[in-house]
Amino acid sequence: MTKTNTPAHVAIIMDGNGRWAQSRGLPRIRGHQKGVERVEEVIQAAPDFGIRYLTLYAFSKENWQRPREEVSFLMDLLARYLDQKLDEMKRNNVIFNTIGHTADLPGPVREKILRNVQETRTNTGLVVTFAFSYSARAEITDACRKIAGRVKAGTLREEDITEQTVADSLYTAGLPDPDLLIRTSGEMRISNFLLWQISYAELYVTDKLWPDFTREEFSRALESYQQRERRFGRTDAAPHAAS
Ligand code: IPE
Ligand code: IPE
Ligand code: MG
Repeated sequence: MTKTNTPAHVAIIMDGNGRWAQSRGLPRIRGHQKGVERVEEVIQAAPDFGIRYLTLYAFSKENWQRPREEVSFLMDLLARYLDQKLDEMKRNNVIFNTIGHTADLPGPVREKILRNVQETRTNTGLVVTFAFSYSARAEITDACRKIAGRVKAGTLREEDITEQTVADSLYTAGLPDPDLLIRTSGEMRISNFLLWQISYAELYVTDKLWPDFTREEFSRALESYQQRERRFGRTDAAPHAAS
């Protein structure tokens, strides 16, 4: 992979853990365990590939509807991950960030999230944003409420609402839009992820299941991105990153 035209921001829908396990006759949770190793791998690879922002869909608001045992396993896994990876994130200059309704998460997990955010906030390297209890529609609805509240309070005039006002009211305020959206395990859908932000993202869907998404697979996705011609509605090719 060359270092020209690399995406500044890559978002990933990490799908296929359950199928990976089931195809081996294992319980679904073993797929989630294996998936954590790949999370680690992409976080380590991203800076080598010239990526500045990595946004990972870890748990959707809809995922609460899964069997109670699977949800509670995922929450335990998350708690352990947050404990185990803090030192490494600090060492690797990673800024840990989250989007979503983290208030829905169990108290101890929320505390660990806050701690990891606090303890990595002065880092200057890769910004890793985990989506937990995330729903893009909920995010947009929350943004509408925020904006309506400002109008009602008299601090914002209706005619001054711009696309930037909306962007700044989303959970992702301050992050550039993703240049590349990767989905593993072959599903051709967005599953309520970053609906506003991916307007002009390049899409890459691989049949590889998330526990098989190695550094090499990641590099393949980036090579595909580098061969794309981004136009943003124009007739000529535009520079690769949106901004
Ligand atoms: C993605 O893998 C992880 C989460 C959604 C938490 P899945 O658990 O959705 O795996 P499949 O899609 O059922 O194979
Ligand atoms: C999307 O995967 C959510 C995450 C990867 C966390 P799902 O497995 O929940 O999506 P659907 O149900 O296939 O659309
Ligand atoms: Mg799935």
